[in-house]
Amino acid sequence: MAKIEITKTELVWPGKYNEDGTIKEVPRISLPFQVIETVNESRATREAKKGGVQGTLFDVYEGKEGDTFEAGWRNKLIWGDNLLVMGSLLEKFAGKIDLIYIDPPFATGADFSFTTTVGGSGEEVIKEQSAIEEKAYRDMWGSDRSSWFAMMAERLRLVRCLLSPRGTLCLHLDWYVGHHARPVLDEIFGEENSLGEIVWAYGSPSGGRVSGAKLVKAHDLIFAYARDYGNHKYKIVYLPYSEKYVKDWFKFTDDTGRKYRKRWRRNDKGESVAERQYLDESLGVPASTVWSDIQQAYADPRAYKEGVSSEITGYPTQKPERLLERIIEVSSEPGDIVADFFCGSGTTLAVAEKLGRRWIGCDLGRWAIHVTRKRLLGIESCKPFEVLNLGKYERQYWQGVTFGKAKDKPLAERALYEYLAFILKLYGAQPVAGLTHLHGKKGRALVHVGAVDAPVTIAEIDAAVDECAKLKQGELHVLGWEWEMGLYDLMVEAAKKKGVKLLLLQIPREVMEQQAAAKGDVRFFELAYLEAEIKRPKKLTAQVVLKDFVIPNTELIPEEVRSKVKKWSDYIDYWSVDWDFRNDTFMQGWVAYRTRKERKLPLACDAHTYEKAGKYRILVKVIDIFGNDTSQAFDVEVK
Ligand SMILES: C[S@@+](CC[C@H](N)C(=O)[O-])C[C@H]1O[C@@H](n2cnc3c(N)ncnc32)[C@H](O)[C@@H]1O
Repeated sequence: MAKIEITKTELVWPGKYNEDGTIKEVPRISLPFQVIETVNESRATREAKKGGVQGTLFDVYEGKEGDTFEAGWRNKLIWGDNLLVMGSLLEKFAGKIDLIYIDPPFATGADFSFTTTVGGSGEEVIKEQSAIEEKAYRDMWGSDRSSWFAMMAERLRLVRCLLSPRGTLCLHLDWYVGHHARPVLDEIFGEENSLGEIVWAYGSPSGGRVSGAKLVKAHDLIFAYARDYGNHKYKIVYLPYSEKYVKDWFKFTDDTGRKYRKRWRRNDKGESVAERQYLDESLGVPASTVWSDIQQAYADPRAYKEGVSSEITGYPTQKPERLLERIIEVSSEPGDIVADFFCGSGTTLAVAEKLGRRWIGCDLGRWAIHVTRKRLLGIESCKPFEVLNLGKYERQYWQGVTFGKAKDKPLAERALYEYLAFILKLYGAQPVAGLTHLHGKKGRALVHVGAVDAPVTIAEIDAAVDECAKLKQGELHVLGWEWEMGLYDLMVEAAKKKGVKLLLLQIPREVMEQQAAAKGDVRFFELAYLEAEIKRPKKLTAQVVLKDFVIPNTELIPEEVRSKVKKWSDYIDYWSVDWDFRNDTFMQGWVAYRTRKERKLPLACDAHTYEKAGKYRILVKVIDIFGNDTSQAFDVEVK
């Protein structure tokens, strides 16, 4: 290994440098975003903005919107790994984001479970995240946290590129990694750009916080760095005086009852004169680097009372809105773009929305995206936003960097062969050769694997079922990343008639996470089944009534959850309808969901009135209490 020349104090971790002594560069990967859902915006408005252009399976985000809502800007909630997401945002957003707040996971455990609430009873159940996620993260950090630094350094470099020349980063950590992170931030942002360290003293130490023979933890750290010190946005926020301060200093009262203090200053003649500073005209105390007036979200007693409105979402690492309010007010102005690439329950986005900022949020977790979407929907007059992901492009990228390394066959053939073998292995199946539509065998069942870049189609399943029937094999498992609409009930029934038992299984996103896959610890869940009826209450109207929702393999659902489920609808947390689905982005036309306050969920939606008679495709989307979604399309003719 080459000699690494250390010229200044720096933090070094295994893997920071290449063999030749050069620093490892961040991979710059730019992939197109897919708009998978539009919330709070009608199709007519959207189409008008797009000039009536229709997409195919999804809309690809083109970034041609303007800088204001009037010009077409849409806030963005992105589901995916922030390394790829930030890399892909660079093309349109390099130097454009005014404030980035991030609160990355810095301990193991807390981020891997979540509280879900079951059905109308609202009974809370802590649902452990899949073991693979937990293990993957534990393994990723390592005992000396070196991989945490590798992970963060790559992302902080991208954060810096995304910040506008007037922008600020706020990195939320605690003592566990905070002081190690400081030199990394200095190296990436420059020590001269450090704005200080905020000590968020979130609560008074209580007996409940005692852990071992260690000092009781009662604060977090937030490091603030400007992209370019002196050019950055900064507003002094004033806090109200304490009662004691008012008593000690505003001792005087004038004839009208107004409180004031005396301030001595020199007049033009150089004489000392007393001036009155009235309490009701005073700004207060400027917020310093110690914030002790904001409690943790869960310190709010309302958090624990059912049926009472509070900002609590049940997301374990949720930060209080007041904390984000202060950060956003100090470092940004209305209309600016505020981003959070580890957005969790969406606190930053909710506050940015309320304070009139534009926002971009990202999280890897399905549950985080679901909680955030519901939280934003709950904000009165929340402006339209889009839910995006990198979908097939992320998978294509993953396929490209993962497979095709062996040199025995042409690249495309090798890559495909290795991809199939990899998925089959994770599923516990063996590859089979010489068949057209069947790729593997698991026990008595034959297996078909869908492609990374296209939904599994009805025709594809039909062909696999026929091949199975021809071989006189009675069971077929189809593994897919995405599915053609409405294929579930059609296909299962059709296969049964041909003597083939058909199971449709979802290839989980974790397949792309190296550590999880390496352990072979990836679970494939059967697609849920949704039954609904379309009613026509009046002329030109349609109404959806949910009839059944079945999660197969309930034995895989934790017993504590299963035991609380009394009826099928208890598994449903959220459902929405697109009245005129055109095989592109899902446009939410009607929505209902459970909240902590309102546990009841209507199973019939409001009737929708169409402007004109015609044939329409209605898409119904259900999100279950685990954050998984299931969609079903219905072709109707309204008269
Ligand atoms: C500490 S929580 C953030 C909580 C958030 N501040 C709130 O108020 O709810 C960290 C979040 O980072 C997400 N996360 C971890 N690694 C990620 C990655 N590589 N890309 C995107 N999100 C990630 C986790 O899923 C988790 O939701």
